[in-house]
Amino acid sequence: MRVVIQDDYEKMCQWAADYIAAKINAHKEDRPFVLGLPTGSSPIGVYKELIRKNKAGEVSFQNVVTFNMDEYLGLPREHDQSYWYFMHDNFFDHIEIPAENINILNGMTDDPEQECARYEAKIASYGGIDLFMGGIGVDGHLAFNEPFTSLTSRTGVRDLTTDTRIVNSRFFGNDPEKVPAKALSVGIGTVTDSKEVLVLISGHNKARALAATVEGAVSQKWTCSALQMHNGAIIACDEAACGELTVDTYKYFLDIEKKERL
Ligand code: GLP
Repeated sequence: MRVVIQDDYEKMCQWAADYIAAKINAHKEDRPFVLGLPTGSSPIGVYKELIRKNKAGEVSFQNVVTFNMDEYLGLPREHDQSYWYFMHDNFFDHIEIPAENINILNGMTDDPEQECARYEAKIASYGGIDLFMGGIGVDGHLAFNEPFTSLTSRTGVRDLTTDTRIVNSRFFGNDPEKVPAKALSVGIGTVTDSKEVLVLISGHNKARALAATVEGAVSQKWTCSALQMHNGAIIACDEAACGELTVDTYKYFLDIEKKERL
């Protein structure tokens, strides 16, 4: 696992956007570059920088196919808190990408099992995901894989914990009851099948989750810890998120990644 520590959120996002753009630009195969994407506050700065790069001609999304991590069950696309809406508002509407290259789980499906199977099959039809960018929740959930979700799980229906509904209620008028109780989500196994996984972890409130991801035991309690079993996992984080790392871990990654410090 690589852990790239940056001074602050802006630099973390800059580093991640540079990394993603470089990977897309280095992709010379005929088949599209397959990019997994998250929602949440964490990736917003990355999306802003990728939009700037696209407008400046520094990266093209014409040959990129995207798969989003998750979607609330029961929210229509037009709902301003659906992840479909978030992705178009914060990213897809501002870059040049063929509409047919965008894949987001359908939260309004009347057959969730079939929708999740379709999603897995579509990912497989492209030969898998080249790079999955993610964020994590304060409880270490990756996509909507809450604590105690199997570390080999595939795309499926997930029950959201009360904790997550409380955290996400900031987008729903601070009322946890208004946050959908279920979501469709790629599984931990779906994410770790990707060739590379890049997870953004920023801010004091993610410090425990960062320590669990990097230093804790591999455990279904912290589903993010499954990244320790991945051969191409990168954590991009900021100083604020490092507060629960032991000093030797912190120094190790600063030393080994010092050329990557912006
Ligand atoms: C939600 C999403 C996750 C995201 C997490 C953290 O629960 N389903 O994919 O990583 O929130 O969000 P934020 O980046 O806003 O802290």
